[in-house]
Parts: sequence; structure tokens; C-alpha cells
Amino acid sequence: MASVKDNLMSQVAEVLPSSGNKITIVGIGQVGMACAFSILAQNVSNEICLMDVFADKLMGEMLDLQHGSNFLKNPKITASTDFAASVGSRLCIVTAGVRQKEGESRLSLVQRNTDILKNIIPKLVEYSPDTILMMVSNPVDIMTYVAWKLSGLPKNRVIGSGTNLDSSRFRFLMSQRLNVAPTSCHGWIIGEHGDSSVPVWSGVNIAGVRLRELNPNIGSVEDPEKWNEVHKQVVDSAYEVIRLKGYTSWAIGLSVAALASSILRNSSSVVAVSTSVMGEHGIDKDVFLSLPCVLNSNGVTSIVKQILTQTEVDQLQKSANIMSEVQNGLQF
Ligand SMILES: NC(=O)c1ccc[n+]([C@@H]2O[C@H](COP(=O)([O-])OP(=O)(O)OC[C@H]3O[C@@H](n4cnc5c(N)ncnc54)[C@H](O)[C@@H]3O)[C@@H](O)[C@H]2O)c1
Repeated sequence: MASVKDNLMSQVAEVLPSSGNKITIVGIGQVGMACAFSILAQNVSNEICLMDVFADKLMGEMLDLQHGSNFLKNPKITASTDFAASVGSRLCIVTAGVRQKEGESRLSLVQRNTDILKNIIPKLVEYSPDTILMMVSNPVDIMTYVAWKLSGLPKNRVIGSGTNLDSSRFRFLMSQRLNVAPTSCHGWIIGEHGDSSVPVWSGVNIAGVRLRELNPNIGSVEDPEKWNEVHKQVVDSAYEVIRLKGYTSWAIGLSVAALASSILRNSSSVVAVSTSVMGEHGIDKDVFLSLPCVLNSNGVTSIVKQILTQTEVDQLQKSANIMSEVQNGLQF
């Protein structure tokens, strides 16, 4: 007897296996799921594949999201422990790994997360040789370098979520001080996503009015308004949130979704992501750090040459030296 489906419609062609904008997310802990939710809720992609080592958790998260399909844009949501499921991904986002415990620095995670990446990155590239890799696992700048080494991909196609999040935290805190919307507060945090990040005070502005012209000592120790405390709060943000709720998730999820959108929509947004910075601002180390980058479907296609002060260049080079030292101690 013909099925309801056969009686309902005549099939005239095969359904294509992929939508062409597939995103795989490896690691479905707090961060991976916040990324997945932000991507789906904002319709950045309508096809996501979740991957982890825990099959039950994968199934549970997949079903939970699938049950919300009616309120999304009919996405295709799959999940698997088998890398074959990631085949044909345009973007692979890696959040797998251990996270900081209360008071622990990002850099202390380095060898443990490097070992985890050895099992993940070659497999992702095997199934999606044209993919862009976006690293989120910490310490993200070093993990981006490690992923680039393990992947064999060109540098432009391996990026780290970097200081896009730190810059967002900065702009939020600036907005609190000035009572102006965060999107109207312009400022960049560059360098390491972490303790040695660099606030570019020389460029902080509202509507093109540079705050440094109003307060020449802004951000320095002589600053009577102590704006450097805003940067200190940015650096302390993750520690504070981890102390209060155990992990960070929503802001990084939203930040990653915005980066994914720039890649999948080929929009060439300028964003602070971790990229290869050898040769930029006098850096002579083969390291990945965040600088304002043009991000589109070919990954990072240009790096904006910010006009930095000597202090900012010195801080950036210090970040690069720290990264290089840690990288030299890594066992691949
Ligand atoms: N870059 C950033 O701005 C940023 C922000 C927040 C957190 N993080 C980092 O993201 C990472 C994840 O944080 P979280 O809070 O989601 O941690 P979590 O413990 O909640 O989740 C980690 C997940 O990774 C999975 N995993 C571990 N090894 C794996 C493997 N070999 N293959 C597949 N999956 C594997 C675990 O099963 C777990 O589900 C941490 O390194 C954390 O420091 C980065």
C-alpha cells in the first residue's frame, strides 16, 4: 500500500544533502550551546551539526533545540560523536576543552586543550577541507595557533574569537559611564584575549569625538577620571562571571554568532579576531593575536592598520612575546 507521503506528493528530485551554510560546533558545553542558540535564534545558519564526546548529552541538546524548530526558521539540526557528520561545513566552531576554574588563568589550560585539539582539528579538515575554523577554546590565541598548525589550512581560514568579546565588554562599560548605547560607543581592545589585552585609548570615541582630546591622560595612571579601571574591569569580567555563575556563556555565544554571520553572509565586517600578526606593528613572532580584521567568506582578508601610540605598540609586542613563550613550551 502506498504511504501517506507517496499519496501526498510526487518526488521529482533528490533533496540536496546540505544547505551550503552548514556550521559544525564541536564541544556542546555552556559555550558551545550558547553559540548554537545564538546562531539559530538569529538565523545566521539554518543547518548546524553538534559534536561532543558525550552521546547522551548530544542527543538531549539536539532534541531540545529541534523541539523549538517551529519558532525558528526550520533549521536542520543534527548531532553526532562521529566527525563524518560534520562533512561539508562552511564553518567549524571549536569550543571543546576544559575551562578555567575560579581564579585560574586562561594560560594554565594550554597543554590540556592542545591535546584535545589533536583529536579534533585533523578530522574536521578531513571532512570539510574548504572550511573556516573558528577557535573559542581557551587560551584562544594559542589554541588558534595550535589549530592552524594541526589543520594545514592557510592562515586566513583559521581565526580565534579573540577580543571581539573584550571589545564588547569595553563598549558596554563605556556606555554605562556615559549613558550612551553600547553600539554608539566606539573602542577597540586588541592583543591577547586575556590578561595582557590592550585598550586602544587613542581611538576611543563617540560620534568621532575622541575622548583623549577631551582628557589627554585617558587610560593612563595620571588620568583623574581613572578610565583605566574600565579596562581592568574588562580583564576581570570573565573571572567575575565565573566566580558568580561558574562559567561564561551568553556574551561569548552572541559574539561568535556575529562573527559567524560576517563569514556566512560574506559581509566583510571589521571585527577584532585572533589572526596571524607576524609583521604587524613590528611583531616578529609567529603568533596569533587580535587586531581589527576584515572578516568574510574567505576568512580574514585584511588587517586594519590602526594608528597606535608607542605605549600601545609596546603593550601589543609584550602580548606577542608572552604568546610566543607559551607556544615554545607546547608539546604537539
Ligand atoms: N574565547 C572566549 O572568549 C571564551 C569564552 C568563554 C569560554 N571559553 C572557553 O571555551 C571552552 C569551553 O567552555 P565551556 O564553559 O563550554 O566548558 P564546558 O565544560 O561546559 O564544555 C566543554 C565541552 O567540551 C567537550 N569536549 C571535551 N573534549 C572533547 C573532545 N575531544 N571532543 C569533543 N568535545 C569535547 C566536553 O564534553 C564538554 O561538553 C573553555 O576552554 C573555555 O575557557 C572561551
